[in-house]
Amino acid sequence: MKHDAHKLVFIGAGNMAEALIKGVLHKSLASPEDVAATDVNGVRLEYIRSAYGVETFEHNAAGVALADVLFLAVKPQSFGEVLPEIAEHLNREKTLVISIAAGVSTSRIESALGEGTRVVRVMPNIAALAGVGAAGVCAGRWANGDDLARAEDILGAVGVAARVEESQMDAVTAISGSGPAYVFYLIEAMQEAAKELGLNENTARRLILMTVRGAAELCESSGEPAALLRERVTSKGGTTAAALAVMKEWGVKEHLVEAMRAARDRSNELSGPKG
Ligand SMILES: NC(=O)c1ccc[n+]([C@@H]2O[C@H](COP(=O)([O-])OP(=O)(O)OC[C@H]3O[C@@H](n4cnc5c(N)ncnc54)[C@H](OP(=O)(O)O)[C@@H]3O)[C@@H](O)[C@H]2O)c1
Repeated sequence: MKHDAHKLVFIGAGNMAEALIKGVLHKSLASPEDVAATDVNGVRLEYIRSAYGVETFEHNAAGVALADVLFLAVKPQSFGEVLPEIAEHLNREKTLVISIAAGVSTSRIESALGEGTRVVRVMPNIAALAGVGAAGVCAGRWANGDDLARAEDILGAVGVAARVEESQMDAVTAISGSGPAYVFYLIEAMQEAAKELGLNENTARRLILMTVRGAAELCESSGEPAALLRERVTSKGGTTAAALAVMKEWGVKEHLVEAMRAARDRSNELSGPKG
């Protein structure tokens, strides 16, 4: 066991919890004996135990009592049931609570778990399953800088984590939370075009996926704005210019911005009254 090991306990051992368990073990942020998970689904628990060698519990209470860091990784609709159960067994001095549930505010969690509970809220995305997720992280009322840093370290094991204010969580949801779907949509469009233009499906898939990854990596490694990279690759009168002229004519960029505004508004509606 690492000298600074803390017991990480996941309430809900679904897809996101699995991604995080895999990430922290792979990056040696914790050993299997420092990690535990609970779930209502016994088959799922058996899988998590045998795949990762972590401790599992059928009852949330057993996990809560052990936790230094307690991850709330159930669906938002399960919070009504899970929070009172946690409140009964939580050690408020010891345990940092990290919620990854979409749209559940820190104030809702704090009022259910009691005054002084240190809560960090995270908005991850599905790419965490591939170890390359992007997450927004914000502190609740009683969480401190060390708590945020701990959440960032753990999320950092499955991608990047960026600190934001809680008031920006709907924006994070619209940009990086739902973001992978926008990129899948672009990939779909490129695949449809490739088919129409006569490319073999497998060849097109390989070329497109590397193109998307390559563009992101070049943007990151060069540190240059996307607009500048786009201009540099667009010769006057060339093929890229022909494609971009169509996109401009159809207002593709403006419509994408509009789409993300709609996602932000929907996130705001779904998370209900703020408080
Ligand atoms: N997946 C994503 O891309 C994504 C992105 C951003 C945020 N999130 C957030 O991450 C959280 C987890 O999502 P997920 O995709 O990992 O969900 P998931 O795969 O459905 O995992 C949730 C697990 O919790 C179990 N569970 C249900 N009620 C429980 C209870 N009372 N006590 C203990 N376990 C219980 C579920 O069992 P049953 O299936 O038997 O009900 C399931 O195994 C959600 O709050 C979601 O908003 C997910």
